[in-house]
Amino acid sequence: MNDFKRTLITSALPYANGPVHIGHLAGVYVPADIYARYLRMKGEDVLFIGGSDEHGVPITLKAKNSGITPQDVVDKYHNIIKDAFGRFGISFDVYSRTSAKIHHETASEFFKKLYNEGKFIEKTSEQYFDNEAGQFLADRYITGTCPKCGNEKAYGDQCEACGSSLNATDLINPKSTLSGNPPVLKETKHWYLPLDQYEPWLKEWIIEGHREWKTNVYGQCKSWIDGGLNPRAVTRDLDWGVPVPVEGAEGKVLYVWFDAPIGYISATKELTPEWELWWKDKDTRMLHFIGKDNIVFHCIIFPSMLKAEGTYNLPDNVPANEFLNLEGDKISTSRNWAVWLHEYLDEFPGKEDVLKYVLTANAPETKDNDFTWRDFQARNNNELVAILGNFVNRALVLTQKYYEGIVPACGELLEVDKEALAQLLVLKAEVEKSLDSFRFREALKIAMDMARLGNKYLADMEPWKVVKTDPERVKTIMNTCMQITANLTIVFAPFLPYTMDKLRGFINLERLDWDQLGRSDLIPSGHQINKPELLFEKIEDPVIDAQIQKLMDTKKANEMANTTASPQKASCSYDDFQKMDIRVGTILEAEKVAKTKKLLKLKIDTGIDQRTVVSGIAEYYEPENIIGQQILILVNLEPRNLRGIESQGMILMAEDADGSLKFCSPVMAVKNGSEVK
Ligand code: MF3
Ligand code: ZN
Repeated sequence: MNDFKRTLITSALPYANGPVHIGHLAGVYVPADIYARYLRMKGEDVLFIGGSDEHGVPITLKAKNSGITPQDVVDKYHNIIKDAFGRFGISFDVYSRTSAKIHHETASEFFKKLYNEGKFIEKTSEQYFDNEAGQFLADRYITGTCPKCGNEKAYGDQCEACGSSLNATDLINPKSTLSGNPPVLKETKHWYLPLDQYEPWLKEWIIEGHREWKTNVYGQCKSWIDGGLNPRAVTRDLDWGVPVPVEGAEGKVLYVWFDAPIGYISATKELTPEWELWWKDKDTRMLHFIGKDNIVFHCIIFPSMLKAEGTYNLPDNVPANEFLNLEGDKISTSRNWAVWLHEYLDEFPGKEDVLKYVLTANAPETKDNDFTWRDFQARNNNELVAILGNFVNRALVLTQKYYEGIVPACGELLEVDKEALAQLLVLKAEVEKSLDSFRFREALKIAMDMARLGNKYLADMEPWKVVKTDPERVKTIMNTCMQITANLTIVFAPFLPYTMDKLRGFINLERLDWDQLGRSDLIPSGHQINKPELLFEKIEDPVIDAQIQKLMDTKKANEMANTTASPQKASCSYDDFQKMDIRVGTILEAEKVAKTKKLLKLKIDTGIDQRTVVSGIAEYYEPENIIGQQILILVNLEPRNLRGIESQGMILMAEDADGSLKFCSPVMAVKNGSEVK
């Protein structure tokens, strides 16, 4: 390692078509932030780059669907995202955006250089065009029947029902979502990056040269390269994006995956006039933090672009993560199946670090993982509160109690003290090894081992007992506890920055450097600490239940949105209909039928008489809430015996998409006995 002078850390630019969620955080921003903070504490030169990805078709679709401009869409989400990152404490040195002028200029220049040097090939092909709208259709603007599964709402690039990836021309009965008309094929010219020409170089650079990359990353690259690479279009027919800066390219923009990674360069330019040092100096190393769906773009396409340009550095490593699921389901912006960062921050004020902790402890580093609210609660209560919080609290409270908060002098160290203190250095070496190889969950566990060490030391030393017989010895014990506490403020700082600021406040300590980790003289005797408060608080069941309920509501809303009406039944004659005598009635009495879950016994005023009806609605209505409710009742249904009660008629109910039953009632009061026709 360390044969570089500075590190440029980039984190995938999130699309500004929705807020960020825990999947983005666990995959990209939390690990990148931990790493950036770690390097800064080591005194290294670091830039941590972020920004919003504001181009691409989904943004134009979102704009169209909400009747606003793409710029409105990206303004809205860029601000939500940027604000949430700021509150959460992701320590970007710059958070830029790709609709910025500097980015348009940078991306445009980049394209022009490659164009002028003949690095692209020009190709004309046939693509779908909407005559009425007068424009070419991006894949997402075309729907039709999936040739694989028959789903009638497949998109031009993918069928979400069966998961197949498609070409727009594969669709049966294609339709433009702009006009609803079938699109026509029309010739259009585009520029392609001939990735096939870069294949030998990619083989040497990645397959031979970067065997140390994470296996998930290396494996994906290898299978792409081994599968053979094809020229890749870098322009699109679209009116939102960076215009293609050459003649004869009106109505065309750079493909979003061409311009977005250049956004890392633009953001660096926005930050510092020395940007070239960070991108071109051989002593700078570059790291891309991304999710697994971005691997091909960051390991193959962007590096090929940089290679074609010729003056830029290539990434040194690309520590991509797998995906985080939520309560067993894939996180999805369109299905609202997510924990949104801005909502979490509103609902859990002061608990930014708890989320960082849980997302790191359970990070999808080598395989997909699941976030559950129960696990979130358990890790907070059983780890942050019960291990880290507990040790720190006991150490500080005892120091207050015995010495009025003045750190006592360290007397002669016994073997146990020396062992505990020596362990700090062992843990330092281990945590560094994990951090240096991007194994953040392992690193966090080792940090937690330092708190465990403190707890064990306290439990073994029992100062609360020893104080009665040997008060001098207790001074050494408590001094040792304070040294461990000071070490915790260092080792946890990259992971739990707000909490460690708080802890340093409790013990009245300046920020320490990483190099000081492992030392046992961090707090001098005589040092006055402040009155401690709790570092973490327990999260109770109702808080978690509310979050789970929120997700269940989402699930239900999705099911509702997705169910379609059942097909129409066979026809019936007007006479058939006339035979049914349906009346307006009023519920006079209601009670549960004993020993059943579903049945209510109702007394109904039908206008003709008062009669008893047994109805299977007990799961949906409380008896006391429906007295006086008007309903529709089929009065001439033959009486039936239900649980020993004669039911004289049937209440008409609508079965909702989730299977629940709801009364069909007249919207205004109607006289009982009125006929329904
Ligand atoms: N917006 C992309 C995504 O969310 C990531 C873009 S990364 C960049 O998947 F390098 F292109 F900026
Ligand atoms: Zn399909």
